Amino acid sequence: MTIQIAPSILAADFARLAEETAAIANVADWLHVDVMDGHFVPNLTLGLPVVSALMKHTALPLDCHLMIADPDRWAPDYAEAGAANVTIHAEAAAAPVRTLRTIRSAGARAGLALNPGTAVEPYADLLPEIDMLLIMTVEPGFGGQPFLDLVLPKIARARKLIAGHGGDIWLQVDGGIDEETIGRCAGAGADVFVAGTAVFGGHDPAAAVEYLRSAAAAASRHAGG
Ligand code: DX5
Ligand code: ZN
Repeated sequence: MTIQIAPSILAADFARLAEETAAIANVADWLHVDVMDGHFVPNLTLGLPVVSALMKHTALPLDCHLMIADPDRWAPDYAEAGAANVTIHAEAAAAPVRTLRTIRSAGARAGLALNPGTAVEPYADLLPEIDMLLIMTVEPGFGGQPFLDLVLPKIARARKLIAGHGGDIWLQVDGGIDEETIGRCAGAGADVFVAGTAVFGGHDPAAAVEYLRSAAAAASRHAGG
C-alpha cells in the first residue's frame, strides 16, 4: 500500500489559500477541499468558483470532498472543472451509480464517502464504480473534532471488502487525523489520510505532512501492509 497525505484547506487561512497551499506543495500528495453547503452539513465553506481559482495556483491534484445535499446535480461540474478526485456522500446521493460514472467519464477519480453511522457492507456492490472509499472518522461539517475510535472496525472491514474485490481502490480516512490517531487508521488498513488541523494548525505545515507520512508508513508496515 502506498501511503498518501491529503492536507485539508479547511484548517488553512481562507484569505491566503494560495500561499497556504504553496507551503505543502512539495510534500503532499493531494489538496483536500471540503465543499459544504449548509444543508447536508451545518456549515458553509466554498464552491466551484473557489475550486477553479485554486486550481490555477497549485500543481497539486485537488481532492474535492462534497458534503452537499445534491451531489448528483453538482459533482460532475467539479470533475469537468479539473478536480482529480471527486467524492460524494452515500447518504446524499439519489443515483450514486450514475453520478460516479459521470465523474469518471469526465476524467476524474470517483470517491464514495460514508459517515460514521453508515455501514460499509450495503455498498460492497458499488466497489467496481469507485476509485476511493472515504470512511469519515468524525461527523462531517467541521474541522478540529476529536477522532472517533468507534470507526476503526469499519475501516478494517472496508479493507477486507476491497481486498476481496481485488481492484485498486484507495481507502481514505478524514477527521481528527493527527500524529497519534494516524497509526491506528493505517494499522486498520487506510492508505490515504486527510489532515486539516494537524497540518495547518501548527507552525510548519510541510514538516507536519512528513511526520504524518512516516507515522502512517511505520504503522502500516507493522500491520503487514
Ligand atoms: C470535516 C472535513 C475534514 C476536515 C478535517 O467534515 O471533511 O476534511 O477538514 O479536519 P481535521 O483534520 O481538523 O479533523
Ligand atoms: Zn473532508
